[in-house]
Amino acid sequence: MPTKVSNTNGQTFQKVPTSNANWKMGEPQKILSGKTLTIEPNNYTSSQLHQFLLGSFPRPACIISTISPEGISNAAPYSFTNLVCSDPPTFSLTVFKNPDGSLKDTQVNIDASNEFAVNLISDWFVESAHASGMNCSPEVSEFEHVGFTPKPSTIIKSPLIAQSPVNYECKVSTRIPFINKEGRETAICYMGEIVRIHVNEQVFDNEKSSFLYENLRPLVKLGGSLYAKVNTVVDPTQNSSTSSTSSSSQ
Ligand SMILES: Cc1cc2nc3c(=O)[nH]c(=O)nc-3n(C[C@H](O)[C@H](O)[C@H](O)COP(=O)(O)O)c2cc1C
Repeated sequence: MPTKVSNTNGQTFQKVPTSNANWKMGEPQKILSGKTLTIEPNNYTSSQLHQFLLGSFPRPACIISTISPEGISNAAPYSFTNLVCSDPPTFSLTVFKNPDGSLKDTQVNIDASNEFAVNLISDWFVESAHASGMNCSPEVSEFEHVGFTPKPSTIIKSPLIAQSPVNYECKVSTRIPFINKEGRETAICYMGEIVRIHVNEQVFDNEKSSFLYENLRPLVKLGGSLYAKVNTVVDPTQNSSTSSTSSSSQ
């Protein structure tokens, strides 16, 4: 039976059994009956491939905040992002050029400052988070434009977003340009060393060193303009048939 953990503000969170709780080690699990379509990436236009890749793999949703040399704070949503190492703690962010070939303010600011902040998106501010993806001119701060509340950083200069319950301050350790088959630079992947972490105590139990997902309510980025709410969790190590097979969690 699903265990309803909480119902705050009309939002439910539940922990449920896995779909096949009686699975036994060595038993092949379900394979979809549909035919496999094989895709040759070169036969897709870059925009078709971009949309396909976006839809195929759910990704972390976050807002990257930066500051320009003139002191204008910038914020925009990003999802070609992930944690890539824990020692040294490193977050990767890929910034594409705009469709017209111009640079995004995020890239201009990171290249000037060598730093950026990562702000996790929770479901209570998805509207403003999504709206911050609109193309604003560099003189306009998305903080004021969409209504983010700035919170000071402690090591870097970019302000953090107070609406976000988890913020990382990052310093760029590696900058990798991507060049496409026409020889054109399309994007920059930045590795940012996480030099400070801020986490709201309502989403993290410091004594148990564990996150309270019913309060964190992170969003996951799917294709198009879709996001998924993390409001249901499963724990395969709790199944009686697999509890002896639990592997270390990553
Ligand atoms: C949910 C979401 C995720 C996005 N992820 C990325 C991304 O990973 N890389 C990227 O270059 N643009 C991404 N974008 C587009 C940028 O947010 C958008 O181009 C924005 O206007 C850039 O703002 P800036 O010029 O202030 O940096 C994303 C947009 C949305 C709504």
